Formats: sequence, structure tokens, C-alpha cells
Amino acid sequence: MLKPSAIRRMLELSAEMRDVIHLEQGEPDFVTPKHILDAADEAMRKGFTHYTEIDGMLTLRQAIAEKLEKENGIAVDPRNEVTVTSGSQEAMFITALGFLNRGDEALILDPYYPACFEDTLLAEAKPVNVPLNPSREYEVNAEDLEKHVTRRTRLVWLCNPSNPTGHVFSRQSLEAIAEVAKKHDLIVFSDEIYEKIVYDSAKHFSIGSLPNMEERTITVNGFSKAYAMTGWRIGYMAAHKKLSATLRKLHYYSALCANAISQKAALAALTGSQKCVQDMVAEYAKRRKLMLNELDKIDSLPYTTPKGAFYVFPDFSKHQSSDEELAMRLLKEAKVVTAPGSGFGKAGQGHLRISYSVSSKQVEEGIKRIRDFLTNKTETSSEK
Ligand SMILES: Cc1ncc(COP(=O)(O)O)c(C=O)c1O
Repeated sequence: MLKPSAIRRMLELSAEMRDVIHLEQGEPDFVTPKHILDAADEAMRKGFTHYTEIDGMLTLRQAIAEKLEKENGIAVDPRNEVTVTSGSQEAMFITALGFLNRGDEALILDPYYPACFEDTLLAEAKPVNVPLNPSREYEVNAEDLEKHVTRRTRLVWLCNPSNPTGHVFSRQSLEAIAEVAKKHDLIVFSDEIYEKIVYDSAKHFSIGSLPNMEERTITVNGFSKAYAMTGWRIGYMAAHKKLSATLRKLHYYSALCANAISQKAALAALTGSQKCVQDMVAEYAKRRKLMLNELDKIDSLPYTTPKGAFYVFPDFSKHQSSDEELAMRLLKEAKVVTAPGSGFGKAGQGHLRISYSVSSKQVEEGIKRIRDFLTNKTETSSEK
């Protein structure tokens, strides 16, 4: 049975409420930059309203291949190794269907982005959680991973930078994953959708650029987060031609091709000025600082400083053991929407995912409401 997304559930519950602060948000609050809107507008008006090549316009695939080579050190042939998808969510789904059979196992670094867990189940395979520990800053070593490998293991789901923790994996962790993947002949799905949103001295590194990883890595990225384009439903995957051949068949039968107008917009995003991305990231950096300052005013609330994405994942277990119950009470009693951590895996229990992709004013007010609630709250039956 597929689980409904914890974030969706909170959104639905809060839909009818007034004066609510949304800190569960998983998307930029910015409008898509103007030059991207203009490219879409022009495409539409000039009649670019038909199917494109199944795997995406060649010009877009070429721009993606150039970006991957220049920024990520990944060399792919745009003709048969890049596929433009309807968001990275589609990439996850077709990877699960394409490479997991009934009874296969997929390693999932926990806390995780929920879609890869549910997609594994949809493929009738078994998600095997590899718990990551905040006391080790959510890093992973080969031993941790290898303990969970069996003869049925086929794939590793990686999300770097991570949703929900905001962790940016070190090169050392990625080398450990690569070592295990090569030793046990596993495919690595690397979701890099938050690649551009990193802070301070953090550097994102692509696992697909490590030696001999090109034949077993599916590098996935998109436009939703970096360019504030969640509603355009456009992303891409790059993988060795043997893997891509399977993925492309599934892409064809599920989506036919990605939205034509969005492809033109994505091309403008990749080939235009990147200042819009820098400006948005600079704004997230300010909000992150504010968010962490505000959280620091709450006693007994440990968190790992996020290095990327726009989430922080504090551990509220000293305040309330059930994150589900806490999120529900915060919604009803403090009018703040958060995402309960257990929706992101067992390792997320007791945590809440709090997003700073909303305005500074909302960040400040939202955390103040949480602080006031925790200060004044009465115990519930589950705490006694
Ligand atoms: C880690 C991660 N991967 C993928 C997605 C889906 O992205 P897209 O809009 O490209 O489908 C999200 C959206 O929140 C995400 O957080």
C-alpha cells in the first residue's frame, strides 16, 4: 500500500485554516525569472506547441550535456545518454520500474526523499533503509552501507544535497558509496536537484564523476528548485547508453515527451545568465541564517546545520516523542505547518522538517509560534 505524502497531508489539513504559517513548503516562493518566462512565451506564440523528440529537444540535451561536463565533470553523449523528463520525480519512477524487479532490494539512505521509497514498493521491490546519524553529520561509510547489501541488492538511492536534512555529502562519503556500488555491481541514482542551493564553503560533488562510475550512475537534476520552476514539470537524467535505453522506453510509454514549452524555458534557464540563481541562493542564505538564529532561542533542540537545500531538520524528541502528534498540535494550536520527520524514514522519527523557502517574515513568525507553543504547551497522553 502506498503511503500518502506527509507533506501533502499537512497541506490538505491546513487548506481551510486562516492565518497559517507554511514551513512545510518544498518549493521556492520566487516567480520564475523573466528571461525564462519570455522564452516560454515566445515558444508558445511561435507555435512550438507540438510533441518534441521523445527524449527532449536535441538543443536542450546538448545544453544539458555541456552543463554536466563543465560543472559536474560528467561526460555524456546528448544523443543517447540524456533524457529530458517531466521533472525529476518521473526520473525516479522510471528508474524504479526499469531496474527493480519483484523481490529486488534497493538501499535508501535514511532520512530520505519519500518518492524513492514508495517507487521501490511500486516496483514490488524492497526498500532497505541505511540509517544515517546526525551525530556523524549524516555522512556514510562503506561499512554502514555494505552491512545492508545482499545478493538481491540492485540499486542505491542517493539525494545530494539531501531533502530533508540539507546535508551535502562529502567526497569521502560519495567515494564510499561508489566503492560499494562497484564491488556489488549496483546502480546509483543520484538526485542532484538541490545542487545549486549550497551555503558557506559547502561544495556539491557528483558521484557520477568518480572513476568508473559513469556506467552505473543515473545523474538526475531539474529546474524546479534552482530556477523556481516547480510548476513547469521539467527535469532530466543522464546515464550510460545501456541504462538510458531502458529508461527511454519507460519514459516514452509514461510521458511520451516532456512539455514542449517547458523545454524551451529550460533551455533559456541553462543558457541564460545564472545571476537569477545566485540572487535566489543569496536570499535563501539570509533566511537560513535567520532560521538558525531563531531555532537557537529554543532550548533542547539539536539540529545539524544544513549545508544545502532549504530545509532544517531539528530533533524535537526532548519536547514531544511523536513527531506526527507534534506536527498536528503545531498546526491546530500554533497555526504553523511543518512536515513530520517520520514521513522521511525511521531515522526521521522525532524530527520535523522546517523549510526556509518562505519569506523572512514568515520564518521569524513561524519559529516564534513554535517557541511559544513549546514554552506553554501542556503534555499529551503519549508523553506521560
Ligand atoms: C529531493 C527531491 N527530488 C525530486 C523532487 C521532485 O522534483 P521535480 O519537480 O523535478 O519533479 C523534489 C521535490 O520536492 C525533491 O525534493
